[in-house]
Amino acid sequence: MPELTPDPNVQNVAAVDRYLVDTLVGRDAALDAAVDDQRVAGMPAIEVAPTGGKLLHLLARAIGARRVLEIGTLGGYSTIWLARGIPGDGRVVTIEAEPAHAAIARASIDRAGVGDRVEIHVGRGADVLPTLADPIADGGAEPFDLVFIDADKESNTLYLDWAARLARPGALVIVDNVVRGGRIADQHDDSAQVAGVRAGLAMLRDDPRFEATALQTLDAKGWDGIALALVV
Ligand code: DHB
Ligand code: MG
Repeated sequence: MPELTPDPNVQNVAAVDRYLVDTLVGRDAALDAAVDDQRVAGMPAIEVAPTGGKLLHLLARAIGARRVLEIGTLGGYSTIWLARGIPGDGRVVTIEAEPAHAAIARASIDRAGVGDRVEIHVGRGADVLPTLADPIADGGAEPFDLVFIDADKESNTLYLDWAARLARPGALVIVDNVVRGGRIADQHDDSAQVAGVRAGLAMLRDDPRFEATALQTLDAKGWDGIALALVV
């Protein structure tokens, strides 16, 4: 008889997450301070988990990203991870709809020592993204190598469309929160957020500009997942 393995539950998943973070991610004063300041400011604790933050960082390094677009800055936690994954003369362009969040993020990003390579655009993605197109079209700015979509889920298809327009062929697009505690596969869930996530995944399947897959994740943020797409 094979040894019985326990089903994942809140306790053993949390223990494994702590083990993996302790073993492979470690702690970092600037990242901890970014999360602390976000909490003190009353912002939602919906930043990526430490393991996810380091994944973003490693992916940026692995593909040699110089220009990163992030949609949804929140308190700058993922922004810092991404900024540390690009060269000093690279750029993270990050978009945040909430001015108070952007102010917290600005301070945390500067304190982390990567402020010179992070541009925060305050506004709705739908308004800011079109302004990024002209400098790329006229050659004043390089297209993006990596796009991280982590904002209002209702707009995922809009964000994916802009990602395909603003990124270079071969760029990597990462979409956060594509599982949402399993709700994407629950036929009875007709919330706008889940509908937005499903529409984004359908676009990744149907739009010839993308080749994609997705992974479920169990981490400090519970059961969720990320989609990974190549711009082809
Ligand atoms: C929510 C948004 C996120 O980006 C996330 O990582 C977790 C939750 C939310 O809006 O509920
Ligand atoms: Mg998210």
